[in-house]
Amino acid sequence: MKVLLIGSGGREHALAWKIAASPMLEKLYAAPGNPGIAHHGECVLLDVRDHAAVVDFCRERAIDLVVVGPEAPLVAGLADDLLAADIPVFGPTADAARLEGSKGFTKDLCSRYGIPTAAYARFADASHAKDYVRSIGAPIVVKADGLAAGKGVLIAMTEEEACAGIDDCFSGLYGASGAQVVIEEFLQGEEASFFCLCDGKTALPFGTAQDHKRVGEGDTGPNTGGMGAYSPAPVMSVSMVERTMREIIEPTLKGMAEMGAPFTGVLYAGLMITEDGPSLIEYNVRFGDPECQVLMPRLRDDLLALMKGAVDGQLAHMSARWRDEAALTVVLAAEGYPGTPKKGTAIGSLDAAAGEGGVEIFHAGTATNDGQLVANGGRVLNVTALGVNVTEARDAAYRAVDRIDWPEGFCRRDIGWRAIEREAAGT
Ligand code: AMP
Ligand code: GLY
Repeated sequence: MKVLLIGSGGREHALAWKIAASPMLEKLYAAPGNPGIAHHGECVLLDVRDHAAVVDFCRERAIDLVVVGPEAPLVAGLADDLLAADIPVFGPTADAARLEGSKGFTKDLCSRYGIPTAAYARFADASHAKDYVRSIGAPIVVKADGLAAGKGVLIAMTEEEACAGIDDCFSGLYGASGAQVVIEEFLQGEEASFFCLCDGKTALPFGTAQDHKRVGEGDTGPNTGGMGAYSPAPVMSVSMVERTMREIIEPTLKGMAEMGAPFTGVLYAGLMITEDGPSLIEYNVRFGDPECQVLMPRLRDDLLALMKGAVDGQLAHMSARWRDEAALTVVLAAEGYPGTPKKGTAIGSLDAAAGEGGVEIFHAGTATNDGQLVANGGRVLNVTALGVNVTEARDAAYRAVDRIDWPEGFCRRDIGWRAIEREAAGT
């Protein structure tokens, strides 16, 4: 098969690495790709916002499958335009991508199909929002309604804090995203990321992970895209996965099909595992980054065959097998991240670091400058390792991190802490 992969992050490098291992692959192209992806395929200059140009490229190169990594092209309808040109694509249409693009859409779906999620209400003015907060009480969650890059969420421990958050929202702190405010019930529990491959009718469970969203050790400081992850998530036991499939994922697929927007691609459920069971915090319509980087090394089966199965509606007849080992990834970020990262600094000794047993280094924001690898973004490298448990995977990953020569980079030193505490306690 000839495959075009859209994207340039660590997630896409992990996908490229796994797709390149498929005996079904004839040729891999990536747009725009990155220096790590270039080891597995040809990086091409293609403006992915220009859907007609992507269609032309696919026709010229006889592409058999387009794999879309990030959400933005999906929300913008790239899959729709490819499908209209009879080009198979792994990823949802714009209608189905509303599961990520619109909080209100997902909440309405949850209430219609009885899917467990935090109770919520939406307001366009501060005084009604504050009345609602006083009627429910704290702790309570205040969110800007639109996409605010993960920054528009306040977990308020008191009613006063919630009211101040509402004022912030309406004062324009989040721009147009704060024109409406969502007040949500506070869910208490442990968070987990749960992934499924979907073919419109059938969802195939596709691994669990836990992310570390805050920039600082001990889960402190501002939110980021994710500073590290591990898989599997211990809280997602076999029975919790079964409940999640039955109570959350299956009704979602059924609902999407019934409303004429069947979902194909990766459905990523951000879950809170509460005392009462799984509750949906949010959906994403793509793999997580950096969660994908810990799923791919654990997947035994052929990713390309599974993606083709999803596109062909064949998932009911397929399965995915996983290694017993745990995987853990540490994100190396450029100084300044998640604010303004310092660009252009030289990165050395990657080959030595990658030579550590069981280690894969996935590139995110890297570039080459006169043959020298340099930082070119916020999250720059994902140092990923397998181990018999999370503790060993963590030790292997940090051994490799310590061999990388990049003084202007930093990472969290406590990735995996929750699972490692569990392992130390023998639970
Ligand atoms: P979101 O942008 O909606 O994914 O929220 C970002 C983070 O805020 C989540 O990953 C959770 O850690 C937290 N969060 C969001 N909604 C809730 C909720 N209803 N209860 C508790 N924590 C929440
Ligand atoms: N790591 C969180 C995300 O990909 O949305």
